[in-house]
Amino acid sequence: MNCRIYTAVCCFLCTGILNHHNGVATAGSTFSQSSRQLSCLFETSETIPSLSDFKYIRQNAWLLLSGTKSKDTKRPHSENPPAANTLTFIVQESSLDILQHVDEDTDKLECKISRYFTDNTQILWPGLQTQLHKLDSWFTGTIKHLDDKFTVTVFLVQSSASKEAENRIPEDVSQGNTETFYLSGVLLVRTGPSVIQSGLNKDVLLSCAFSVDHNTDVAIKWILQQKGGHKKLIFAYNGSARQVEYKDKRAEMFLAEIPKGNASLLLRTVGVRDAGTYSCQILVSSVLWAQNIQLEIVEKPTVTLNAAVLSLVEGDEHKLVCDISHFYPHDAEAQWFQEPMQQGMLPHLVTHVVSSSHRQNSDGTYSFSSYFLLKASLRDDGRRYTCRVEHQSLKHPIKKSLTVKVTESTSATWLLVILFVVLAGCLVVMLYFLYQGMSTNKPKPY
Ligand SMILES: *[C@@H]1O[C@H](CO)[C@@H](O)[C@H](O)[C@H]1NC(C)=O
Repeated sequence: MNCRIYTAVCCFLCTGILNHHNGVATAGSTFSQSSRQLSCLFETSETIPSLSDFKYIRQNAWLLLSGTKSKDTKRPHSENPPAANTLTFIVQESSLDILQHVDEDTDKLECKISRYFTDNTQILWPGLQTQLHKLDSWFTGTIKHLDDKFTVTVFLVQSSASKEAENRIPEDVSQGNTETFYLSGVLLVRTGPSVIQSGLNKDVLLSCAFSVDHNTDVAIKWILQQKGGHKKLIFAYNGSARQVEYKDKRAEMFLAEIPKGNASLLLRTVGVRDAGTYSCQILVSSVLWAQNIQLEIVEKPTVTLNAAVLSLVEGDEHKLVCDISHFYPHDAEAQWFQEPMQQGMLPHLVTHVVSSSHRQNSDGTYSFSSYFLLKASLRDDGRRYTCRVEHQSLKHPIKKSLTVKVTESTSATWLLVILFVVLAGCLVVMLYFLYQGMSTNKPKPY
């Protein structure tokens, strides 16, 4: 295609200019615009007839995704001459644009090629020339982004009728094999992150896209497998009838986007029961592929104390309660600390703390409380106590503090008052007698 060549030339020029400008040679980037070479692991199994068992074989492989029509790329990029014991899979250009879906640096990708077993039946795939007595060889290439941005699976076929099919991929890939195989990509499924975390009552988009090498009807199903193993159909779309056959009440698909290869599912106001593994199933002809996305519901706890300032009288006992509520999942931890009176000292963990058992709320979240009995002493006047809560939804623990004010007990005050009165009374009496004595001892003036 002219436009493709034009783009390639333009990119070459751009990189050329940039290279010149930076004075750094990065020839690889030009190459990657029109083709991609991925280091892969080829996995297959071999039957051991004597044991009627399987043996798994792994071999290094190159997957060359080519965007150009030329077949002169017999050998992969010259920078990487094939090492011994490495297979090379060259995916010839087709109307399936794989490169468009693998838009990331090669060193950020992980690739695996496996055989796709067809149960000894010939898959009738439009456009594929097949020989009656020979089965096509089917493979899947799975390319995963290392930071879990996406996963792409490509179906690759080595047609039994193709010229290159003489170079068949042997069932048992023996050691020291460095052969090159030509395949065509016929179907691709791309999902977004394989693990998604969401809070309660949010809308969540489960991203799934597909691409087929010919114009055809695609059936789409979304199935949820819940924690207990229970499977639930969420959405079913019939491609040939162009209609939705089943729909969960909170699930939506973008029907206008389906012909463009968009099979994403939107879940509205997710709850605890929506957590689980969602599989995006794409059915084309008789090829079915399912790719999984895990949805985790994570909700932050609300932490409250039964007071902000607690005024106690010396000797009183009071329950200090920390309520940890409406969080998900179940595992949350709460600790009470006694803050130091002076700065620069470490808080002291309160050890006699009791936790109530977890209560499950109607929305599926959990709540519990953590408390201890404080016996007020004058030394603790002005002391702060902190409840510290940890949960997987929190980057940093939640801390809530209260200050305790302790006053002297009233009975002690009364005792002091009585003591003071008695002492004062004694003093008065003594002073009186002293005065009396002094006046009687006075000599008579006559
Ligand atoms: C599918 O369509 C929706 C709605 O337009 C959009 O938000 C989403 O990004 C699309 N997903 C893919 C994989 O194209």
